[in-house]
Amino acid sequence: MEGPFVFGSHATQHFFTNRTNEIKTLTNNFIAGTNTMLISPRRWGKSSLVMNVSERMKPTHKKIRFCFIDLFSVRSEEEFYEVYSQALINASESKLEERIKSVGKFFRSLLPAIKLPVDGQNDLELNFEWKQLKRNADDIINLAERICREKKIKLIVCIDEFQNISNFSDSLGFQKKLRAQWQKHQLTTYCLYGSKRQMMAHIFESPAMPFYKFGDVLFLKKIDRKHWIKFIVKQFASKGNSITEEVANEIAERMEDHPYFVQQLAQEAWQLSEKKCLLKDVDAAVSRLMEKLSILYQREIDQLSNKQINFLKALANGETRFTTLDVLEKYRLGTSGNVIKMKKVLESEELIDSMEPEIQFTDPLFKLWFRKYMMKESD
Ligand SMILES: Nc1ncnc2c1ncn2[C@@H]1O[C@H](COP(=O)(O)OP(=O)(O)O)[C@@H](O)[C@H]1O
Ligand SMILES: [Mg+2]
Repeated sequence: MEGPFVFGSHATQHFFTNRTNEIKTLTNNFIAGTNTMLISPRRWGKSSLVMNVSERMKPTHKKIRFCFIDLFSVRSEEEFYEVYSQALINASESKLEERIKSVGKFFRSLLPAIKLPVDGQNDLELNFEWKQLKRNADDIINLAERICREKKIKLIVCIDEFQNISNFSDSLGFQKKLRAQWQKHQLTTYCLYGSKRQMMAHIFESPAMPFYKFGDVLFLKKIDRKHWIKFIVKQFASKGNSITEEVANEIAERMEDHPYFVQQLAQEAWQLSEKKCLLKDVDAAVSRLMEKLSILYQREIDQLSNKQINFLKALANGETRFTTLDVLEKYRLGTSGNVIKMKKVLESEELIDSMEPEIQFTDPLFKLWFRKYMMKESD
């Protein structure tokens, strides 16, 4: 039987909780045509939130269409253009024939090779010739706006893991090109989100960068405890099971209100419990998840230096001022310059997140595992 919780894919409909204010802000921005940047660590709910807003707006805003693009695996400008134009063509028409017609209409000079879908779906794949593409890049950069004008619609272009454009070879030049065109668009609104906080902040908050002041920058938070408690109780009830508010609180607390992990632990607890979920089921669920992930966690640890492990120990003990002399000495962290470097490395390894000024473990379950297996009382 399917469980009452969802993790790993987008949380939609009854798997989605709260975010009332964020939904309001995004909806208003999309209607007003205000570009919005959404920043949070991975798995805090950016994609689910935007997806949810699009689902809510669909029935009442027929002229507004959403287009979703994920740059997760996109590594070059060329690839960007392909993925980008494909997504736009596929979002603007639902029928295959119409999509093919659109390609002819919008890419007259570019003449991409079209790969037809084989699996009975309607998604086209486009391949451009790079030389041609380079000369006509603006055609693609302006594609959303051209589609809007032609079809008399408005588009909300949502681009996930947008910070990946920083890795393109001439990234700055590319960003300049994008910004120069996008800021002229009147019918297209951009919603750009990403999970590498430092990179996103660099793109959007440095006055010297092309995307400075492109729109509203929102930092997404975790979900409040009170919403989790209500949500967990309700989801258990939807399967004819029960859980008290105290035990539900325990699930959220152990996972530090982290959206993905609260759902994962709740699911595990639901599977392990009988009619009524008890505290012992939560304990067992935590152990079970740790067991499942221990190989992965052990591998992470194997790649760290002693000093990096010491840094994590300090973090797990709730230290916050890592560069003060007593913390440096107590945890044998070396120099303060060293600590700054370690923070950067651990962050790029995605073991910690620094939503300044706070630093935390990216994965609350890893934190529990780390405390249990890597730290003795004397630490
Ligand atoms: N509003 C929400 N209500 C309940 N669970 C959520 C919510 N947002 C996110 N989640 C949980 O977090 C997971 C990751 O969400 P996702 O939207 O993919 O995050 P991101 O895009 O930031 O990486 C989801 O699979 C779901 O388990
Ligand atoms: Mg996402």
